[in-house]
Amino acid sequence: MVICWVFDNILSMIDVNVDQIRLVQPSIAVLVSSSFEGRDALLTVGWVVPVSYVPSRVAVAISRERFSYNIIKGSGMFAVNIMEFGYVDSVYKAGTISGWDVKDKFSVCGLTRGVGRTLPIAVVEEALGILECRVLKIVEAGDHDLFIGDVVDAYVKDKYSTHWDPTSYRPILYISEGHFMTIDPNSVVKYDIG
Ligand SMILES: Cc1cc2nc3c(=O)[nH]c(=O)nc-3n(C[C@H](O)[C@H](O)[C@H](O)COP(=O)(O)O)c2cc1C
Repeated sequence: MVICWVFDNILSMIDVNVDQIRLVQPSIAVLVSSSFEGRDALLTVGWVVPVSYVPSRVAVAISRERFSYNIIKGSGMFAVNIMEFGYVDSVYKAGTISGWDVKDKFSVCGLTRGVGRTLPIAVVEEALGILECRVLKIVEAGDHDLFIGDVVDAYVKDKYSTHWDPTSYRPILYISEGHFMTIDPNSVVKYDIG
């Protein structure tokens, strides 16, 4: 009886025929930066994922059409800049304005260009946390390539110990179609994980 109900329930669900991958959003939207041959890259990336604890690795999916693509590929380095919700306007701008059209994207987005602690590439001074990465591998994934990076340095201003403090950290989350959001600290629940 229960199996029958579940089956009916699934069959009556509504088809998603376009932009199916948006079902896994919202996801954190970060700023990815780099530098190569005198030019800086800065773009918003919603497709960022941790892929290994030891060694410490993250992957970012970047379209080959982006101005930033060749800079990251050329330098073999990138930084993941984690911004707080107060910078949502800058993250929106970095995600809609291209380095193909503007020279100093940092200032156009209201951000300050800094230099990595370990790698000689641009980073965002206003970031709450930064991961500096060397490109380990580029994997063709479809209309985006996955840049898998070895984390060579990681640092934060505050609100982090072994993870972000859920009561004070306000990440920038992106749903799609221009909708950004953050977390509600009242929604935080804590379970024991072995
Ligand atoms: C919230 C948000 C998330 C985005 N995520 C990605 C992404 O994961 N990968 C990507 O290639 N572009 C992504 N984009 C689009 C680029 O950030 C955008 O095309 C940007 O203008 C590229 O800049 P560039 O040409 O200077 O590199 C995103 C845009 C927004 C607004």
